[in-house]
Amino acid sequence: MQNHDPIIIALDFDSPGEARSLIRLLGDQAGFYKVGLELFTAAGPDFVRELVASGKRVFLDLKFFDIGETVKRATEQVSRLGASFLTIHGSPQVMRAAHAGRESSLLKLLAVTVLTSLDDDDLLEAGYQCGVRDLVHLVVRKALETGIDGVIASPREAVSLRAQAGPDLILVSPGVRSRGASPGDQKRTATPAEALEAGADYLVIGRQVTRAADPAGAVSQIREEIRFALTAQ
Ligand code: C5P
Repeated sequence: MQNHDPIIIALDFDSPGEARSLIRLLGDQAGFYKVGLELFTAAGPDFVRELVASGKRVFLDLKFFDIGETVKRATEQVSRLGASFLTIHGSPQVMRAAHAGRESSLLKLLAVTVLTSLDDDDLLEAGYQCGVRDLVHLVVRKALETGIDGVIASPREAVSLRAQAGPDLILVSPGVRSRGASPGDQKRTATPAEALEAGADYLVIGRQVTRAADPAGAVSQIREEIRFALTAQ
């Protein structure tokens, strides 16, 4: 069992008001929140500062991808906001620039390997010469060489990534669904317990909680599922 809370709730909303309502409803059930492109564009850095000031941890999922100097300077800004995690694309130039921009701050950098909504056919359509598995491993090798703290990866890749990267790389898995929950547009899902058993350190959970009639109940059920599965081994 993890000695940290592995659950990160994705605040995929178009206004800070909706996000605040969910956070209120969840209360002590969640302490780590992901702010992605939609909410960050709507609510801006002040909302991130507000979350951090209220004692929540923030995962800023902005998937930076730009020329090195821009990535470096934008990463410096994120480190000043007090966010705990930031995503960047897994391109070597971007990873090196973000690493330079983070300097000695506590911000952890997570490289995006392959979006969990993509499969081999999608990569082929986009012109890639390799499938998801090979691309994920290449990005992880480059991330390790660059000193990146972790990667975003589908739970289905967690076992082989753990084997490749060792215990220190932070593995964050979106695309997590309890059995019976709707997968939405995710193509490579696993249950929360399967993802943790496979080696994920953190689970990003969105719609299963944010669209639930009782979000706090949904998180509590996920925690129960994890406890049951991991103690039944
Ligand atoms: O609603 P759901 O649980 O599918 O939400 C997953 C969250 O994780 C979304 O905010 C999505 O943008 C994010 N994400 C992902 N796959 C990645 C990186 C981030 O699904 N590779």
